[in-house]
Amino acid sequence: MSLSVTVVGTGTIGMTLAKLWHGAGFQVTLASRENQERVLDGIPVRPIADALPGSDAVLTAIPGSAVQVFLDQHASQLDGVPLIDASNNVGAPAMHHAAQAGDLAYYRAFNTLGVENFAEPVFDGIAADLFYSGPPEHKDVVEALIAAVGLRPVWVGEGADAADLLDGVARLWFTLALAQGRGRHLAFRMLP
Ligand SMILES: NC(=O)c1ccc[n+]([C@@H]2O[C@H](COP(=O)([O-])OP(=O)(O)OC[C@H]3O[C@@H](n4cnc5c(N)ncnc54)[C@H](OP(=O)(O)O)[C@@H]3O)[C@@H](O)[C@H]2O)c1
Repeated sequence: MSLSVTVVGTGTIGMTLAKLWHGAGFQVTLASRENQERVLDGIPVRPIADALPGSDAVLTAIPGSAVQVFLDQHASQLDGVPLIDASNNVGAPAMHHAAQAGDLAYYRAFNTLGVENFAEPVFDGIAADLFYSGPPEHKDVVEALIAAVGLRPVWVGEGADAADLLDGVARLWFTLALAQGRGRHLAFRMLP
C-alpha cells in the first residue's frame, strides 16, 4: 500500500516513526509548530497547517497536554482522514482524546509501548503485537503503518471504551518496564 503520512511532532516518537515509514517507502511529511520549512534526515518538515492537506493518515506525537489545542486548531483539516494519536496525556483522567475527537476518524496506536520497541520490534524472531483502536473504516491504513514498523497489529475495538482499554495497556507497560525496572525493550504478544 502506498501511503502519504503526516507525523505531527519531531521528537523521539515522531522522528522514529517518520524514519521507519520513510524507509518503508511511504511519503512522509513531518509537521512542527515551528513556522519554517526544513529537512530532517531527508524528510520535509512543514508548519502543521501546511503539512496536513493531502495526507492519507496523520499521527500525533506531541505531548498529551497539547493534543486538545491541536484538535481545536486543525480538526477541520482532518475530516475523513484517519488520525492516529500516539500521545499520552499522563496524569489526566484519560490519556487519550477519543471523546474530544468528536466525529473524526480517531485511532489509538503506538501509545502502549516505549519507542525502543518500534525501533526493535522483534524478540527472538517473533514480532511483538501492537494493540490499537479506532473505527473499522481505516483499519487497513492503520494496520499497514503498524506492519511497516515490524509489529503485528491487533485491533481491540472502537470508541472511548477501546481507547480506555489501551490506556490500561500503556499503564501495564509503564508498570512492568519502568516501575518494576524490567527495562524499556519490553512488549506484548497475544497467543495464539
Ligand atoms: N517516548 C516514548 O517512548 C513514547 C512512547 C509512546 C507514546 N509516547 C507519547 O508520544 C508523545 C511524544 O513523546 P516523545 O517522547 O516523542 O516526546 P518529545 O521527544 O519531547 O517530542 C515532543 C514533540 O512535540 C512537539 N511539541 C511540544 N509541545 C507542542 C505543542 N504545544 N504543539 C505542537 N507540538 C508540540 C515538540 O516540538 P518542539 O521540538 O518544537 O519542542 C516535539 O517535536 C507523548 O505524548 C508521549 O506520551 C512516547
